[in-house]
Amino acid sequence: MSVTHAPESAVDVLRRQDPELAEILLGEADRQSTTLQLIAAENFSSPAVLAALGSRLANKYAEGYPGSRYHGGCEIVDLAERIAVERAKALFGAEHANVQAHSGSSAVLAAYAALLRPGDTVLALGLPYGGHLTHGSPANFSGRWFDFVGYGVDAETGLIDHDQVRTLARTHRPKAIVCGSIAYPRHIDYAYFREVADEVGAYLIADAAHPIGLVAGGAAPNPVPYADVVCATTHKVLRGPRGGMILCGADLAERVDRAVFPFTQGGAQMHTIAAKAVAFGEAATPAFTAYAHQVVANARVLAATLAAEGLVVTTGGTDTHLVTADPAPLGVDGRTARGRLAAAGMVLDCCALPHADARGLRFGTAAVTTQGMGEAEMVRIAVLFAGVLRGDVESQKAREEVRELAGGFPPYPG
Ligand SMILES: Cc1ncc(COP(=O)(O)O)c(C=O)c1O
Repeated sequence: MSVTHAPESAVDVLRRQDPELAEILLGEADRQSTTLQLIAAENFSSPAVLAALGSRLANKYAEGYPGSRYHGGCEIVDLAERIAVERAKALFGAEHANVQAHSGSSAVLAAYAALLRPGDTVLALGLPYGGHLTHGSPANFSGRWFDFVGYGVDAETGLIDHDQVRTLARTHRPKAIVCGSIAYPRHIDYAYFREVADEVGAYLIADAAHPIGLVAGGAAPNPVPYADVVCATTHKVLRGPRGGMILCGADLAERVDRAVFPFTQGGAQMHTIAAKAVAFGEAATPAFTAYAHQVVANARVLAATLAAEGLVVTTGGTDTHLVTADPAPLGVDGRTARGRLAAAGMVLDCCALPHADARGLRFGTAAVTTQGMGEAEMVRIAVLFAGVLRGDVESQKAREEVRELAGGFPPYPG
């Protein structure tokens, strides 16, 4: 077993002091290197991002914002946050960026806090169609504190039902409209959502947690020119540390900042903010642009091959890193499929399907593309996949093939 994501000395220190935890870290590194990470929300951050995350910036308390902290000794971490903010603004063409949100959910909470009052009506993609927990789930603050109305997707095409969006907006006059999803594989028509929001006097919140990395690489439309507030994660296709980010115009900057701190969060996590700055720097390079386009090319081939193998691919394909599909024609439901695939070393999620009660499968190509896999590997994965689900390929044999495939594309070479 080898650990390639942290300086060896750090692992040695942990091994000496806490062998139990060291074994867990080593085991997870091994799992990530010998199985296929097809969870659409995951990726492999670069060694530079991981170095910032594991740095001594983690020791620093820094409530407030650069130049205006509640704690002393923030001169140096202030530089990191300023760089992160400037890089995010430049990358996405935003007038303002808040890089303190601890996660995608924290970013959405802060966006609501900035724009809404408890009890306000919000129109968002319904959870059965790919809305996130923060888009009105009764188990989440969003569903408890706001009055959510859900729009859906067309049962046949799987595409967002734009007419329904407009009709519901006219009927319910929401204070905000949310566009964004955990599983929608197509580009979102931000201009359309802007038009509807303007018609009914609503704020437009784009929850671009998934596509934001594609936006950075020029492989998906940018919501910034259209939405009042854009919420995002930094750890999916964007390939940064686990965390959130909010982009908005200068007019909402103060409201958004105060909604993050002091309203919904305390001290900023400076090591994560430094790691976000590193990731934004990486995302501004031509290499990342090529990566983002390859992520989409890979997802398209994966979708086409899954369809050729008999799975029903939602919307008939994808524009993004995400593919969702119903494995029912192969005689297996999503949950059973996920278990069988996991046993073969192919790790992915279940998801809701627009046309069926049963669960489907959600694939993402961000992590395997970071490993250097291309279209040929996507075909191989999809064929293996279908073979496992049909029962043509025995699980142990598939596990060996996955191990061999993953071994050829180490996430952290050397
Ligand atoms: C659309 C959307 N919003 C919000 C989130 C929440 O992000 P986090 O898990 O970082 O809280 C996700 C996570 O997958 C997401 O897909």
